[in-house]
Amino acid sequence: MRSARPVVTPNVVAVTSGKGGVGKTNFAANLALAYADRGARVLCIDADLGLANMDIVMGVAPTYTAAELVRGDADIDDVLVRAHDGVFLLPGASGQYDLANLSDAARRNLFSAVDSLDDRFDVIVVDTGAGVGSNAVGFASAAKDIVVVVTPEPTSVADAYGIIKVLSTRCAVRRLKVVTSMVASAAEGEQVFRRLSSLVDRFLDTSLVHLGSLPRDPALSRSVMRGEPVLRAYPDTPYSRAVQAVAGRLLQQDEPDDRAGAIRLFWRKLLRQGGRP
Ligand SMILES: Nc1ncnc2c1ncn2[C@@H]1O[C@H](COP(=O)(O)OP(=O)(O)O)[C@@H](O)[C@H]1O
Ligand SMILES: [Mg+2]
Repeated sequence: MRSARPVVTPNVVAVTSGKGGVGKTNFAANLALAYADRGARVLCIDADLGLANMDIVMGVAPTYTAAELVRGDADIDDVLVRAHDGVFLLPGASGQYDLANLSDAARRNLFSAVDSLDDRFDVIVVDTGAGVGSNAVGFASAAKDIVVVVTPEPTSVADAYGIIKVLSTRCAVRRLKVVTSMVASAAEGEQVFRRLSSLVDRFLDTSLVHLGSLPRDPALSRSVMRGEPVLRAYPDTPYSRAVQAVAGRLLQQDEPDDRAGAIRLFWRKLLRQGGRP
């Protein structure tokens, strides 16, 4: 289902959450595929340094990861894995490298590697770690669009508020997008969003936009077991249709990114702050 509307400006979308296990990685991977369906060239970055598993959701087995890249042991072209038509993955390395503690040489390696990517991709989807104490906030605050994934569980809503508070008060992020995940119905998704957004409206100088809900769907774990993202394994299942709708909404309300070299700016910002807020 390719549409005539190409994505023209490189746009960095960070997918984050307050709490782990909310469906962030699956959403990020399938969002990337939905962008590719619309003709975009997409780079996925697995930046969940504690629990890098986007490769598994994408169904690929990378030889190298970002760890070899920052050490200078592999080139960007050896590290990038072609995961699907129009989608490349920069695989993460669980617990092996820490952006906050990169040496100058490692920083230079990373920077010069990604510097070459600017004209190769239209969209970068970053799967960040969860929680305020991780690199998540650094990655998220350097991105143009930040999507916070939240489930109906009260703990997830409380932790989503926590990360939104950090992004708002420490990183001056004024607009955030929200995807409600693992919901039983669209009405439940709306309710969760309203609960979160009334807290944010009351206490923070940031506004939230609801991009939609992802239903709890058994097709998702079936597809991961098959080693294929659900959008490819079961394109017509409720989850897949919901991801396509969310991608459409993200594109619809996309303010053009007039920052020349948006990808380069993203990395520069990120490396300056060492992956931390
Ligand atoms: N909408 C959903 N319906 C059913 N299961 C889901 C859904 N979203 C995620 N899951 C399951 O929840 C677990 C965590 O998902 P994952 O995407 O890895 O979350 P995170 O990256 O936030 O830790 C996985 O086992 C996944 O299959
Ligand atoms: Mg994850």
